[in-house]
Order: sequence, then C-alpha cells, then structure tokens
Amino acid sequence: MINVALPKGRLGEKTYSLMAAAGFDCPAILEKNRKLTFENPEKGVRYFWVKPSDVSIYVERGAADIGVCGKDILLEYEPDIYELLDLQIGKCRMCVAGKGDFYDDEERTLRVATKFPHIASGFYESIGRDIDIIHLNGSIEIAPILGLSDVIVDIVETGNTLRENNLVVLREIVPVSARLICNKVSFQFRHDEIIRVRDELTELVGSGEKIETIRLEH
Ligand code: PRP
Repeated sequence: MINVALPKGRLGEKTYSLMAAAGFDCPAILEKNRKLTFENPEKGVRYFWVKPSDVSIYVERGAADIGVCGKDILLEYEPDIYELLDLQIGKCRMCVAGKGDFYDDEERTLRVATKFPHIASGFYESIGRDIDIIHLNGSIEIAPILGLSDVIVDIVETGNTLRENNLVVLREIVPVSARLICNKVSFQFRHDEIIRVRDELTELVGSGEKIETIRLEH
C-alpha cells in the first residue's frame, strides 16, 4: 500500500474527494471516529490526517510516500521532495497587505509581520528593500492594526479577513494552490504505484470535471 498524508481540514476533504474520484476511495474514512489512519488494501492506499504544515515533513522523511500541501509550504520550507502535480484546488494568493493609506517611507526599515519569513525575506530581497521580519504564528492581520508592523505577508483567499479588518492587498507575491508531492526514495522504489496515482489525478484534474467535496469527520 502507498501511504498518503492528507492535510486536516477543508483542503484534506477536497483532496480525498479527488483521490476517491480518481479510483482510490477508502470507505473506512467516512466512519465517525477519532482514528487518524484509514486503509483500503484493495485499492492499495493507506491515508492519514496530519496538520497541513506537517505534510511535507512526513513526505520528506518517508513516513508518507505521497501527500498534498499548499505551494506556500513548499516555498517557505523548501522540503527535499518531488512536486508531481498542481491539483488546482486550495487556490489563494501570497500577498503583502496593509492599511489602505499605507505609504512606504523608503528611508525607514519596513516592519513585516508574517507566518512565512522565508517567502517574505526572499520577496523583499528581490526588490532591494530592507525589512525587519516579525515572525508570528497566526492572526497576522492584527499586527498592522496595533502598530506592531507596517505591513503583513500572508495568504489571501476570499479577502474576507482583510476586509473585515480594514486592510487591503498592496501587492501580490505569488499565486498558491495545492500540490501532489512525493518522497524521493518512494518515487524510485514504488514508482509504478505512484505514477498510477499521479496519472489518474492528472486526467481527472485535466478533464475539468466538477468533483463534489465529501464532508469528513476528522
Ligand atoms: C489564513 C490566512 C488569513 C486567512 C485568509 O488564516 O492567514 O488570515 O486565512 O483567508 P480569507 O482571505 O479567505 O479571509 P488561517 O485561517 O489559516 O488562520 P490563522 O490566522 O490562525 O493562521
């Protein structure tokens, strides 16, 4: 069986729905319980739920053969994995955001609050702007409101969080979507099984067919 790391939450449900539609369903995952691993030996898959930001760690270290995580995680942590496919789900944008009247005084070091220090530093280095990174773990939008930072670098999906906090997108850094990723050793030794999953998903994603999201308890 190949081990598949699914990100807990909405993206995980969408991912499992795609996997099921591609022929890798696992009825045990639909049962209401607190289990974290589910397998379907007939289809050759074992799924397990992990925190979205941990998927690439499981895959990089081989505890999972494949997994699904956002491009934001791959850009931030640069795990040593293969990226096999853009699944075209979980679409959002990595952006610089701030107050509507924000003015960038280039004489001063810009204070940037973010959960993504590597992406933020890389972006500002590419435009030659000196910054002071303030590394936070969540609720980033509060930082410019309370004057902790001048701007934030964060994920924007619907834009609701920014709007409700009177912030606006100042610049888009990179579009983000979910990627199918693979452990490098597994790719060599379980090549055929992994290629089968990738090819079935490629065909499904390419067909443009609308896949209903299966709601899961986890
Ligand atoms: C993410 C992100 C934004 C929000 C964007 O936060 O950091 O806060 O979602 O989504 P929207 O544009 O649809 O409003 P998350 O829900 O992961 O929580 P966090 O702030 O605790 O990291």
